[in-house]
Amino acid sequence: MEYLVEARGMKKHFPIRGGLLRKQLASVKAVDGINLAIKKGETIGLVGESGCGKTTAGRCILNLVPPTEGHVYYRMPAEERKRLVGLEDQLARMIEENSDGKSKEAVEKEIEEIQDKFALDRRNQEELRKLRQFMQIVFQDPFSSLNPRMLIRDIVGEPLLVHGVARGEELRERTTALLEKVGLNPEHLYRFPHEFSGGQRQRIGIARAFALNPDFVVLDEPTSALDVSVQAQILNLLNDLQAEFGLSYLFISHDLSTIKYMCDSINVMYLGKVVEFASKDELFRKPLHPYTEALLSVIPVPDPDLRRDRIVLAGDIPSPANPPTGCRFHTRCRYREAICEQKDPPLTDRGGGHLVACHFR
Ligand SMILES: Nc1ncnc2c1ncn2[C@@H]1O[C@H](COP(=O)(O)OP(=O)(O)OP(=O)(O)O)[C@@H](O)[C@H]1O
Ligand SMILES: [Mg+2]
Repeated sequence: MEYLVEARGMKKHFPIRGGLLRKQLASVKAVDGINLAIKKGETIGLVGESGCGKTTAGRCILNLVPPTEGHVYYRMPAEERKRLVGLEDQLARMIEENSDGKSKEAVEKEIEEIQDKFALDRRNQEELRKLRQFMQIVFQDPFSSLNPRMLIRDIVGEPLLVHGVARGEELRERTTALLEKVGLNPEHLYRFPHEFSGGQRQRIGIARAFALNPDFVVLDEPTSALDVSVQAQILNLLNDLQAEFGLSYLFISHDLSTIKYMCDSINVMYLGKVVEFASKDELFRKPLHPYTEALLSVIPVPDPDLRRDRIVLAGDIPSPANPPTGCRFHTRCRYREAICEQKDPPLTDRGGGHLVACHFR
């Protein structure tokens, strides 16, 4: 298996409805065609400004909301993936060359067969329910994500009970062990969420997400609601759990310092699209996209001699319901030229797997 989870061409458009008949007037292009691939034991970052579609991408990759277009593949063997990529390329060429219907249909059928086997959106309810054990999410806000009327024992134990993994004495033992794993005590079992601090609540959320031994976890800004002093503890806990269980993470954040601390490779997202992808070292050493450059320029550096010029992005982030033509970033880009307004630059490899979507970089 090359990748544990892989989203290919993933889009999520939300309809905007209006009028008496609630007709669809337009759509919010929250995620507009992105690829994300995560290997076993790896942490892939997703960074970008508020509203660029990070949470939507995280929810789509777990099929909590079905993608509008594209597919998410889970545990697809390397040979099958190679076949799929080959077939998709072949189909794209056929469409470009307008070649005959029959052979095109045959290729489409083969692609469908692979999707039937490995795409999450092709699983039925029961299959999805089973897969959910292995694919979990930790939410941003530990204050609203825990049911205030449930005891910690039930919050953490519920997944084990629902999936029929443990009950009775065994359930109690496993719940206690989970709490200890995340740094809480057995005495916390009989308390309610409001009796805990933000950091402790996030530990409870993590215990719940890890109850069923998942192999893939989406971490959606797991520390951004917490005090700086508590943030590091939670990040370290997540790293320890990853090292112990060989987990894969999709780590979502708007904060580049946290991303740098946690991730192996990073996707920079702007208005529903990935504009740059690189390994962490490469991205921080040599950011290529003007947007990434601007994001990095505002990270505080400890050494005053090293101070970089801060690049302040002009204007607001445009609406994803009506993204700019051409390159979506051109309205805020200080290097823009005429072509940027007309043509959307594709994400292309600038060597060694460093991908950039820009006409000039
Ligand atoms: N259920 C929904 N219906 C309609 N629009 C939605 C829905 N969910 C998200 N959106 C819109 O999609 C866009 C992306 O939202 P999303 O929450 O994915 O962004 P984000 O990058 O996670 O932002 P933040 O950093 O603030 O969490 C936003 O414009 C948002 O208003
Ligand atoms: Mg979000």
